[in-house]
Amino acid sequence: MTTTLSEDDPLTLDVGAVAHGGICVARHNGQVIFVRGALPGETVVARVTEAPEHGRFARADTTEVVDASPHRVTPPCQYAGDCGGCDWQFVDLAEQRHLKAEVIREQLARLAGETPDRWADLRVEEVLGGTDGLGWRTRMRFAVDPSGRAGLRAARSHRVVAIDRCLIAAEGIDALGITQTKWPEASEVLAVAPSIGRAVALADPRPGEARVSESAAGRTFTFDATAFWQVHPGAADTLVCAVLEALDPRPKDHVIDLYSGVGLFAGALASAVGVGGRVDAVESDAVAIQGAKRSLHDLAVVHLHEARVDEWLRTPPLRRCDLVVLDPPRSGAKKAIIDRIVRLRPRAIAYVACDPAALGRDIALAKALGWRLASLRAFDLFPMTHHAECVAVLRPDTVRS
Ligand SMILES: C[S@@+](CC[C@H](N)C(=O)[O-])C[C@H]1O[C@@H](n2cnc3c(N)ncnc32)[C@H](O)[C@@H]1O
Repeated sequence: MTTTLSEDDPLTLDVGAVAHGGICVARHNGQVIFVRGALPGETVVARVTEAPEHGRFARADTTEVVDASPHRVTPPCQYAGDCGGCDWQFVDLAEQRHLKAEVIREQLARLAGETPDRWADLRVEEVLGGTDGLGWRTRMRFAVDPSGRAGLRAARSHRVVAIDRCLIAAEGIDALGITQTKWPEASEVLAVAPSIGRAVALADPRPGEARVSESAAGRTFTFDATAFWQVHPGAADTLVCAVLEALDPRPKDHVIDLYSGVGLFAGALASAVGVGGRVDAVESDAVAIQGAKRSLHDLAVVHLHEARVDEWLRTPPLRRCDLVVLDPPRSGAKKAIIDRIVRLRPRAIAYVACDPAALGRDIALAKALGWRLASLRAFDLFPMTHHAECVAVLRPDTVRS
């Protein structure tokens, strides 16, 4: 029987499995409720925050823990629960990784038809940088409230939570004192603590204001502070190693690097394919392409294309390639792009994904075209949050040389 729930109703719930988005599933009189701030196996009192009349599920926030999981800890951060930045500060680090692996397995089972047993050994791997899951975030956007004070947004809200300091921020960002400074007339402040040089803070950042330099995969990348770069200090090296190891590029290979940013993967692939090879890097952000030009100018085998991936893939005369790196934004690549890549008949696609649901949907599209998920790794690039990064390798079902 399903009953109508009202917002603010306090409910006592037995909490079930973890779900996509870092919430857990509970049921109340047949009604599915996604509970925030709870762990599998707990009994909690939760306040309903969203009870759509005709919706299939409701949402609730934990207000009291009646029977706690052994993995529940006191959050290191005093703002945890209010600030929307970290949703898993109350979970021990090992369990955070265990739960992330569960979610990845579940999403790939549900959306890509993978048997969960096949990925039973999947571990979300720790990445070097930061301590105990803190001090790792090298890029942050602070929101500014009407009084000019910078803070962080509350969970699922535009409200700005005033904070003294953020414990997941890298030391360089912390030292900028952004939350102790007034930012009149700004709506946000971008803070970047690169691996080379000083940290910068930019109010309402626009391209052209500041450049930063990063050292990764044996190269130095210099690019506009607003261009994309992974936020965890260990992420760039970790992902490059995982992609190269999985794809195993050969001399003279033709590789395409889709959603290439400032050229992190293109630079490493260029060395692997050598002078007889070719790397086409495709990126729509003009500012990122400028950074790639500046950073990869010595690599004649790299060809940079400022274009949308879908449009570039429609451009003749590309008929074949040997390998593909696919690192799309959170929403994934989607059908038209998966179709086009498969038509190029590469030996393998390395798919770098920050959302296991988008990854699952895209794997399902590739499987329908005769491809298979050949290997999968996951990395803890976002400790204290429910997010993880996957590197999935897709190969054609029939093995070709
Ligand atoms: C997750 S980032 C990956 C960047 C790069 N591979 C790296 O690891 O640094 C995704 C990139 O895709 C770019 N992007 C987003 N939509 C795009 C599109 N339709 N076509 C081309 N690039 C796009 C973004 O500007 C961003 O640089």
